[in-house]
Amino acid sequence: MNSLPRRPRRLRRDGIRELVSETSLSPSDLIAPVFVDATTDERASIPSMPGHERVPIAQAVDRVEEVLDTGVETIILFGIPASKDADGSRAWAEDGVVQRAVRDITRETDATVITDVCMCEYTDHGHCGILEENARESPELTVDNDATLDRLARIAVSHAEAGAHMVAPSSMTDGMVGAIREALDETGFESVPIMSYAAKYESAFYGPFRDAADGAPAFGDRRHYQMDPANAREATREVVRDVEQGADVLMIKPALSYLDIVSTVRENFDQPVAAYNVSGEYAMLHAAAENGWLDLDAVAHESLLSIKRAGADLIVTYFAEAIAEQL
Ligand code: PBG
Repeated sequence: MNSLPRRPRRLRRDGIRELVSETSLSPSDLIAPVFVDATTDERASIPSMPGHERVPIAQAVDRVEEVLDTGVETIILFGIPASKDADGSRAWAEDGVVQRAVRDITRETDATVITDVCMCEYTDHGHCGILEENARESPELTVDNDATLDRLARIAVSHAEAGAHMVAPSSMTDGMVGAIREALDETGFESVPIMSYAAKYESAFYGPFRDAADGAPAFGDRRHYQMDPANAREATREVVRDVEQGADVLMIKPALSYLDIVSTVRENFDQPVAAYNVSGEYAMLHAAAENGWLDLDAVAHESLLSIKRAGADLIVTYFAEAIAEQL
């Protein structure tokens, strides 16, 4: 008999293993993305995101009820507008796609509704803000940061007026959180929190979302406003700025390739931390599972657990409904 006083395996048998587990997932940690499409009256599946659909405004409530039936109580809403222009003006229209859907959803259901505040689905050029003059010819700067702030503030206020419970600016515009906070406060929405996409990287993992929400840039890319995947310390600088401007929840995006960032933000800030398990992270597990190479339920659960273990309190994920049903 070996004398081995430390035997970690003792805690791994069934029953004990669960008792000492450090991290767990609950449906109340999960936020389900929902796509509402003003260009159609029929639900349409999104090929690169199996199980997800764009739904017409008239079916937004049905779609959200499906989410609620799984035990997930919070959704983040994305809109595909009926028309686009250079200013993205349908993004703040009172009868815009998100505004109409939010009114219906908050009237008919108990869901907590978060809205994505950005312009890329609404501009005809697909960038996340107003373009600078000559941007189409210039390989360099394209989005006019400061001119975009006022538009983002208008969008956030229009979402709050429709009844959104929280707004989530995702355009990586410098100063966006402060501009939105000020506008919400001035219009009587001082109680509406801001979940800032505080550290959002210029990631190739957004590919399937850009099909789903029809928001790919028509020219150029997002390198001059989204963060360089090579940078970690810069994330702390971004998060500090957003905290100073009044961000209530700090989001890191994407999640799985950026768990070091999630963990650093968790350690250094006391605001709730959210991570966005993005479309490409979802699509690649589905693709492997379809080939029989991975067990989808198992890898989805393990992925979300890893995101929690790294320090996220909340996870925006296309797996929300499927995982909630497993729990
Ligand atoms: C809008 C926005 C994007 C995503 C969320 N909000 C697209 C982008 O920045 O290109 C991506 C989400 C995903 O890939 O799941 N700016």
